Amino acid sequence: MTVQVQVDLNRCQGHGKCMIACPEVFDEDGQGYPVVAVAEVPADLVAAVNACIDDCPERAISATSR
Ligand code: F3S
Repeated sequence: MTVQVQVDLNRCQGHGKCMIACPEVFDEDGQGYPVVAVAEVPADLVAAVNACIDDCPERAISATSR
């Protein structure tokens, strides 16, 4: 199974929790907003990404698995 993660920048308000909690997956774009740094979430980071999804105050992060 592969997991891909997306950030909806129309919802993101730059709270930054995702970039602090999981910097391997969420890069900072230089203006305080996240950029997804990986095409697929490594298996050992899936749990951390799921926590980021739950913790985002704007519900801006989503993931798809296939
Ligand atoms: Fe944005 Fe949510 Fe991360 S608001 S910076 S996607 S914690």
